[in-house]
Amino acid sequence: MPLEPPADEVELHVNGEARRLRVDPRVTLLDALRDGLGLTGPKKGCDLGQCGACTVLLDGRRITSCLTFALMHDGREVTTIEGLDGDPEGELHPVQQAFVDHDAFQCGFCTPGQIMSAVALLAEGHAGDDDQVREWMSGNLCRCAAYPNIVAAIAASAGR
Ligand code: FES
Ligand code: FES
Repeated sequence: MPLEPPADEVELHVNGEARRLRVDPRVTLLDALRDGLGLTGPKKGCDLGQCGACTVLLDGRRITSCLTFALMHDGREVTTIEGLDGDPEGELHPVQQAFVDHDAFQCGFCTPGQIMSAVALLAEGHAGDDDQVREWMSGNLCRCAAYPNIVAAIAASAGR
């Protein structure tokens, strides 16, 4: 009889909804979101904590979801790009709209992570000037080098 991998139950509050799933203790939060819950907004770029494509909010703070295990977050609030505006059928979140208005993406692969990071950065009060934005967004890489437009989108979101 083949050996079943071990699994434990975890309840994540994802985008305002309680979701229970059984996961191998080695499963990252990123894989639980993508493969377990079908939320493919968070992207797997490096899977090493180096690119920021997998950024989500955990209890309102940004984290790289590839660097943490799903089981560690029982009962906690997770927000992905899909739940950013609280209404999948509604209007874009203002930061999403700013990215559109400022042409802040090319291929778009990094964009969900960039936007989640930008939303957190604005809440943290780290958008005072462009240098500050560049510093506090430095964990989010963009292979298409849309950086000037990303900074412009965030500056506009901050009312500058
Ligand atoms: S996929 Fe998580 S930081 Fe790159
Ligand atoms: S828009 Fe292509 S990687 Fe950023």
